[in-house]
Amino acid sequence: MTTLPTPLAIGPHTVQPPVVLAPMAGITNAPFRTLCREFSGGKGLFVSEMITTRALVERNEKTMQLIHFDATEKPRSIQLYGVDPATVGKAVRMIVEEDRADHIDLNFGCPVPKVTRKGGGSALPYKRNLLRAILREAVAGAGELPVTMKMRKGIDDDHLTYLDAGRIAVEEGVTAIALHGRTTAQHYGGTADWEAIARLKEHVPEIPVLGNGDIWCAEDALRMVRETGCDGVVVGRGCLGRPWLFNDLVAAFEGRPQDFHEPTLREVAATMHRHAQLLGEWIGDEARGVIDFRKHVAWYLKGFAVGSEMRKKLAVTSSLAELDAHLSELDLDQAWPDSADGPRGRTSGNNRVVLPEGWLKDPYDCAGVSEDAELDTSGG
Ligand SMILES: Cc1cc2nc3c(=O)[nH]c(=O)nc-3n(C[C@H](O)[C@H](O)[C@H](O)COP(=O)(O)O)c2cc1C
Repeated sequence: MTTLPTPLAIGPHTVQPPVVLAPMAGITNAPFRTLCREFSGGKGLFVSEMITTRALVERNEKTMQLIHFDATEKPRSIQLYGVDPATVGKAVRMIVEEDRADHIDLNFGCPVPKVTRKGGGSALPYKRNLLRAILREAVAGAGELPVTMKMRKGIDDDHLTYLDAGRIAVEEGVTAIALHGRTTAQHYGGTADWEAIARLKEHVPEIPVLGNGDIWCAEDALRMVRETGCDGVVVGRGCLGRPWLFNDLVAAFEGRPQDFHEPTLREVAATMHRHAQLLGEWIGDEARGVIDFRKHVAWYLKGFAVGSEMRKKLAVTSSLAELDAHLSELDLDQAWPDSADGPRGRTSGNNRVVLPEGWLKDPYDCAGVSEDAELDTSGG
């Protein structure tokens, strides 16, 4: 078991141990971040789900709620997604002027066809000049706030962009880069290429590189650091229905494997209740909180003997009392099952990448991207 010698610096923020909750649309809202922070003892960095810059500058009501932080959350990290340099600049300046965050992360990793079809998401870094213009506006607008970026390896194996994008990021004053070791074409399929993370680390020694992809347990995080030399890890799907992974990540980096947490179903049920309750408080409506929580139920119960009837009932619950009543019918003394370990969440991939006509012809042309590429996005 190794420990990391140097803390991760994201501008003025020290992240020790260097563990970051990956932004996940529809998941990493304030309640989920609170849960993860509670399990980590407040250590680590917890990034908001992606916020589109146009919706932000238009002060869309839902977007304004998404950038709400718990009073105890420090540093406040907002992830932005935008395709137009001017709008990105405006959104960043709005965040700074209104003191809405302490760190801004930019998302260039979304593989969803309806976004890449318009040249947005993970298709965008292929247009080097557009990427540069967005980063330049963001860094200029951010002032003292650190700006980081998160990206994939490229569009597919024949159109890799991460090394060029990394160099551009350094030149434009980006503070750190997170690399998800997959291409757009892979979506969430196959395995993340950690060698690419090592290559990026060698390519941009000037700034921290964070590795992302396929960390399912705390040992995976240590192994990623060991094998790639990355400065920190970004953990996404491994935390779905398992916020206590943040306890284990911190314990692993601090050399305390004896403190890893394998909860019984009773403890899992208590966390489920708390998660649903926090969602209700955040939304301001218990029923809507419990309804939003439904998407997490299968992840929390993965591997436990629950029965399909009970799973169905839990999937249509709409009050905390109902949730508690169902959970109390379970055999709560069940130990953490081995089958709950390993991959969870989206794991499919190898889709055809849909791009705008002629997109791959010239990586350096100065074409812009229609702002429609910001609509209907669902993450990275
Ligand atoms: C449900 C879901 C939503 C996501 N939303 C975002 C997002 O808003 N922004 C982003 O940069 N990546 C997003 N991602 C990608 C993750 O941040 C991460 O890069 C990816 O899941 C790989 O890491 P993992 O193997 O640890 O899950 C999302 C992933 C999932 C599964």
